[in-house]
Amino acid sequence: MLVHIKDLVKDAAKHGYAIGAFNVHNLETILGVARAAVKAKSPAIIQVSEGAIKYMGRKPVNHLVSTVAKNLAPDVQIALHLDHGSSFESVLACMDAGFSSVQIDASSMPIDENIELTKKIVDIAHKRGVWVQGEVGSMIGGHGKVGGRITGVPLAVPAEVVAFVKATKVDSIAAAVGSAHGAFTNEDVHLDLVKAITEKIKTPLVLHGGSGVPDKVIAKAIKNGVRIINIGTDIKVAFSDTLKDTCKKNKKETDPRVLLTPSIEAVEAIVLNKMKLFGSFGRSVDIKAKKL
Ligand code: G3H
Ligand code: ZN
Repeated sequence: MLVHIKDLVKDAAKHGYAIGAFNVHNLETILGVARAAVKAKSPAIIQVSEGAIKYMGRKPVNHLVSTVAKNLAPDVQIALHLDHGSSFESVLACMDAGFSSVQIDASSMPIDENIELTKKIVDIAHKRGVWVQGEVGSMIGGHGKVGGRITGVPLAVPAEVVAFVKATKVDSIAAAVGSAHGAFTNEDVHLDLVKAITEKIKTPLVLHGGSGVPDKVIAKAIKNGVRIINIGTDIKVAFSDTLKDTCKKNKKETDPRVLLTPSIEAVEAIVLNKMKLFGSFGRSVDIKAKKL
């Protein structure tokens, strides 16, 4: 079923686990996430970047996610979110298209301009019942980048995160805490920094760059208060590595369904593992959420 993101995050905060926010790129990755959610009886956030919207179209992606959630996953809770919205116009268009949650990522701007733009969006979004995620401290790396070391990862300053949340009234907050977009060999999360932030604010903290962070560190980050974890690269890799392999082994195959089914299954397997790690496995049974 399609639900508002607030119902998922509320349950995660109450029971001390994290909801996976999974980046999708096409029908097949949407199916992989939805099937994993059904198998795991787990809530899930399905999120799209502006790149994915450019590829599929804003309304089509909204309809695809809604239809899959309502028809193929009627007993689990799925929420749709815009990941890394970069402008007022882009975020507004997603609200118009029916997203229950949007991120405005103005983290590359000076903090006062970030606050100003985020606040302007929050004011409009809240009138429409839409949740807004803000971001303090820029993420580096790159979606889909795999291997090698990452250096110079910026870190958010807790006092700045607290001031930002207070000033903007965002519903969730992404802060740079050591992880990076992509999967690198030395990725880490500064657990003390996570704690220093979550002790001072009630607003749920979002961990971006979840791919590449060791499982043990993810588990500790959840203990320290992370309530949403973004996974993008692991899905891209599962999908495309499997597709390349299937094509190699079936050079004469012409049926896209035969070539794509193993990739859907690979995405499903990755997402299932994340749901176990995040503690959302089985939570759908207890969550009371209004269907959208
Ligand atoms: O916004 C998307 C995420 O932060 C994904 O990061 O590709 O490292 O999993 P990732
Ligand atoms: Zn991100």
